Amino acid sequence: MRVAILGATKGMGRALARLMAERGDALALLGRDPQDLERSARDLEVRAGRGRVSFSRCDLEDPATFAPALEAAEGALGGLDAVIVSAGLFATQTALEADPDLLRRLLTVDFAHTVLFCEEAKRRLLAHRGGTLCVFSSVAGERGRKPVVLYGAAKAGLTRYLEALDHRHHEDGLRVVCVKPGFVRTSMTDGLPAPPFAGEPEAVARRVLRAIDLGWPVVYAPAPWALVMWVIRHLPRAVMRRVGF
Ligand SMILES: NC(=O)c1ccc[n+]([C@@H]2O[C@H](COP(=O)([O-])OP(=O)(O)OC[C@H]3O[C@@H](n4cnc5c(N)ncnc54)[C@H](OP(=O)(O)O)[C@@H]3O)[C@@H](O)[C@H]2O)c1
Repeated sequence: MRVAILGATKGMGRALARLMAERGDALALLGRDPQDLERSARDLEVRAGRGRVSFSRCDLEDPATFAPALEAAEGALGGLDAVIVSAGLFATQTALEADPDLLRRLLTVDFAHTVLFCEEAKRRLLAHRGGTLCVFSSVAGERGRKPVVLYGAAKAGLTRYLEALDHRHHEDGLRVVCVKPGFVRTSMTDGLPAPPFAGEPEAVARRVLRAIDLGWPVVYAPAPWALVMWVIRHLPRAVMRRVGF
């Protein structure tokens, strides 16, 4: 499979890129820091044991980078079978309430610009009879919750967009995979108290790869979060107002 991946320098994106390189997928990395990208590309080449991993600059804060980055990935791989977006921004509710500029950046990166990037990726995949668009949203978008009012709102918008994209283009050959991680130990969650069912990036990557291969439209990872979120989705509003999560 020929795959462009935005966000492979850290966390779950890095774990997924490693798995894909090890099984022989051809990868092109997209990200904002050329030095980090080069380091990651060399690491993946060693793991794959063959071929070059290309990289190009793509910053979710700068939509002008989206088309050239995808163009470069397509050129390097000779086409695209899948585009993966694991890049994203997180900040606590307290930090976001205290800093309107950080809030503007997070809402823009996690929703508006991720959607713009997906539209560009979708256009390119559909031009060649489809492919897979796999995007990391979050369980934070499943229900309005006190600790993630703002981050959760951005991810809720992203989840709905991905659901509708699946409905609109499934017949055309586009396979949309919406990943809903629960709490996963990465640099994003560094320093936050880990809840029960916290996961590791490698286990999440294995589950996401299965979802990509089998074309699941939605995947919770780690798996127990599917049940946790089922319960949370069904709690009455009066309970949600009282509890702290
Ligand atoms: N960890 C969790 O518990 C959790 C839970 C639910 C959902 N998620 C979502 O899952 C995805 C992956 O999370 P993670 O925990 O693996 O995060 P992570 O370890 O912090 O990695 C985030 C990745 O996003 C990239 N990135 C950040 N801002 C960017 C920008 N403006 N342009 C391009 N790339 C950018 C980072 O690149 P740099 O190396 O340049 O910083 C990094 O590669 C995110 O969408 C996150 O919201 C995570």
